[in-house]
Amino acid sequence: MKKRIEALKRQRCAIILAHNYQPPEIQDLADLCGDSLELSRRAAATDAETIVFCGVRFMAETAAILSPQKTVLMPRPEAGCPMADMITPEALAARKAELGDIPVVTYVNSTAAVKALSTICCTSANALEVVESLEADRILMGPDRNLALNTAARTAKQIIPWSGCCPYHDRLSVQEVADQRRAHPGAIFLAHPECRPEVVAMADAALSTSGMLRYARESEESEFIIGTEVGLLHALAKENPGKRFHAVSGKLVCPDMKKISLADVLGCLERMDGQVTVPEKIRRPAHAAVERMIALAK
Ligand code: 13P
Ligand code: SF4
Repeated sequence: MKKRIEALKRQRCAIILAHNYQPPEIQDLADLCGDSLELSRRAAATDAETIVFCGVRFMAETAAILSPQKTVLMPRPEAGCPMADMITPEALAARKAELGDIPVVTYVNSTAAVKALSTICCTSANALEVVESLEADRILMGPDRNLALNTAARTAKQIIPWSGCCPYHDRLSVQEVADQRRAHPGAIFLAHPECRPEVVAMADAALSTSGMLRYARESEESEFIIGTEVGLLHALAKENPGKRFHAVSGKLVCPDMKKISLADVLGCLERMDGQVTVPEKIRRPAHAAVERMIALAK
């Protein structure tokens, strides 16, 4: 199956991008695995004609926003992000009207229509940098309440959080972390900023998925408790054969990230289906918000 995928990839001039939570066989197949920020940068920069996006809808949509001339395909188009559905453009427009003229920082885990109403996007890797880049001292940040609160703890600016969350990261409790710390004394605990502030407060570092990979690679420590979706453990173990990684909770699994199989990737390249497009009147303002974020790192 891998050989057929490789042949079709060449024929279609395609690139396969995969998020760090994807199943191991998809991570191993991909041309690039990364966090949301790396994947959006790569989607903007690639000269491939087709992008096969192994992740959830908002990620593929971001690629389509950045590269409208490319064909962006999702092997399982129904893979979504429940957090992205916790904010609608109508609700955001109403809240903006209530709050007056304040900037809106929107996590990339959101629909294109919500991005279109935002000042700038952010990911878990650059949320603080994005907030600090704005002149205003009062900022609306959504849809992730935890990312907003964890960012608020590191800035002097007033952050008004939206009330969404990742149902899986948000469920991680202080008790579970304490149990893992007791089971693995001396291990470093890394938390994703989508975890609750009280969980992040227990962490040695709060990082995006690729931030965790970098930390583990560069650290002299040899044992880590990983406070994010279990898919990241595959890349961590692969890159660091001499180090040990423990999932903070076996329940931290995102079912939408686990939908894609090799057969789905093959089928989508054969049929060229599962195309993700964004209507131009939404794409343009959404592009401005995503591009403002990407420009910060240039
Ligand atoms: P990262 O950008 O850290 O990879 O996170 C994406 C995500 O969906 C986390 O739940
Ligand atoms: Fe969305 Fe959470 Fe899944 Fe990330 S892990 S894609 S935030 S539901």
